[in-house]
Amino acid sequence: MRIKRGDVRGLLAKKRVKVDGVIVTEIAYPIGQFSHVVVDDTVLQARVPCYLMMNKPAGVVSATKDAHHTTVLDLLVDPPSVDLHIAGRLDFNSTGLLLLTNDGQWSRALSLPERNIEKTYTVTLAEPLDERYVDAFLNGMYFDYEGITTRPVKLEILSDYCARLRLVEGRYHQIKRMFGRFQNEVLTLHRHSVGPVELDLGLAPGQSRYLSSEEVFSLSLD
Ligand code: URA
Repeated sequence: MRIKRGDVRGLLAKKRVKVDGVIVTEIAYPIGQFSHVVVDDTVLQARVPCYLMMNKPAGVVSATKDAHHTTVLDLLVDPPSVDLHIAGRLDFNSTGLLLLTNDGQWSRALSLPERNIEKTYTVTLAEPLDERYVDAFLNGMYFDYEGITTRPVKLEILSDYCARLRLVEGRYHQIKRMFGRFQNEVLTLHRHSVGPVELDLGLAPGQSRYLSSEEVFSLSLD
């Protein structure tokens, strides 16, 4: 059924439109991206929100399509029939918690700077760490390309070559670039959590599962 803009008021006045099972008569009635919209018996919109976590393995691209490499979407064994996108990419060789959804509002809200959603990572490095890193990461580093100073990153040294990081932003290759200032190459980078959502340790690399409603809600805007 194709509905012209000019017909909408008439349909509403005749009580022929239902949104989420409720007859709607007001033109200003808010219709969300996942509202179920029916005119008479014809469904006009019936999108179902979908939220997944994956344990991303190394060597796959955080993208929905790629001409040369396997993408994270290629790894879904039983892909839901919705248009998924990635909420917060990981680099080709980075591993760990990756969130996928078809809910653009939810994924945009994850990256709002004022929400300060903390992400945790562990890194292993080519050269040994020392206390200078802790201060430099906390003080922030100026990134010429973006013209910004990174927000404080909490770095905890776990051993000579291994650290845990907590950061609230996700600039392009941010962690690698920050260690790059010390000419220290990141050998492995693994994300454990995004806000309160932690990688399910039952997921082998490449496996995924649906988020629980509590997990979805914990990352939603209030
Ligand atoms: N920072 C990086 O450099 N790479 C990632 O994958 C994530 C954060």
